[in-house]
Amino acid sequence: EKAGYEHFMLKEIYEQPKVIRDTLTPRLPMDQDDVYLDGINLEKEVLEKITRIYVIACGTAYYSGLIGKELIEKYARIPVIAEVASEFRYKDPILDENTLMIVVSQSGETADTLAALRMAKKAGAHVLGVVNAVGSSISREADDVLYTWAGPEIAVASTKAYSAQLCAMYLISMKISLVLGKLSTEEFRELRAALYQLPSQVEHILENANLIEAMAKKHVNMKNVFYIGRGLDYAVAMEGALKIKEIAYLHAEPYPAGELKHGPIALIEEGSLLMGLLGQESLFDKTVSNIKEVKARGASIMAIAMEGNKEVEQVAEDVIYIPRTHWSLVPLLENIPQQLFAYYIAKNLGHDIDKPRNLAKSVTVE
Ligand code: F6R
Repeated sequence: EKAGYEHFMLKEIYEQPKVIRDTLTPRLPMDQDDVYLDGINLEKEVLEKITRIYVIACGTAYYSGLIGKELIEKYARIPVIAEVASEFRYKDPILDENTLMIVVSQSGETADTLAALRMAKKAGAHVLGVVNAVGSSISREADDVLYTWAGPEIAVASTKAYSAQLCAMYLISMKISLVLGKLSTEEFRELRAALYQLPSQVEHILENANLIEAMAKKHVNMKNVFYIGRGLDYAVAMEGALKIKEIAYLHAEPYPAGELKHGPIALIEEGSLLMGLLGQESLFDKTVSNIKEVKARGASIMAIAMEGNKEVEQVAEDVIYIPRTHWSLVPLLENIPQQLFAYYIAKNLGHDIDKPRNLAKSVTVE
């Protein structure tokens, strides 16, 4: 059932081109300038009264929600608060019938996420679930469900579900912005065209997995790793660092690139690895100067950047290039090398990749 792959995680990483296609294409017909979200009620009457959106989830699902937050705010200009469910549920959040809550969950059974959903419903808010497991508790209790078509995810560390969740975030942010008249037809078409390219672009990255495997071999003895980026790259950094912790059992920290000098740079020494995420071209120079500061303190430097930005080779010894895409789709492409890097580090260390210690696939206790 691993279809010839050594681990479910690797199989699931390689399923991503299909998962992305399945989640996106039925909802984005080429001949109509609209997004079709399976009959979900995000029509004008509903959206016009929404004053605040919450995106609530845990772990990897939360990190996909952070991308959703940025994109909804950028395009639709509605304030969005993204929070982990275990924090949200013990606060006194502002919830009313003018609130839209988007809950994101692969399993649809995460206890804290479900509790947050129930709080929102009780307060009269509209709840949209972004769920992978069909018929799960969250899919049954949410007002509306947008399924991610990732198929069953067996490996404990989430990979393809995250990519599918990002696709859902792209679709939802485009839909909300279109309905509210905030996204021009031109911008919409540009995004749609870029989305249609994602599956083959992911395939291209996967075809070059051997380069990432070699980099993992080289860096397997690192003491710790810092993932840094700005904007959407920072949200991707969080997911990259989590994968390393989960399956490689190495100390990994995500940081906004500009925050390093406010404390964490004191941890950098020889044996530290820095993974610089440079996909956001408008922030490229800023992050490069942060990388230089870390390099001067003896860390090894890896970077992920978009093709065409060769200047990165002046600061990084190992560079992974991703195909050129629209800035908002960079996270999906940037994360694929991160998945492979974590996988190959864990493999070199001889860990039980599909069933990492202390972790369960579905967290149904709080
Ligand atoms: C990370 C991982 C966890 C889950 C989190 C939420 O690889 O698997 O962080 O993302 O437990 O789970 P779901 O999405 O099922 O609510």
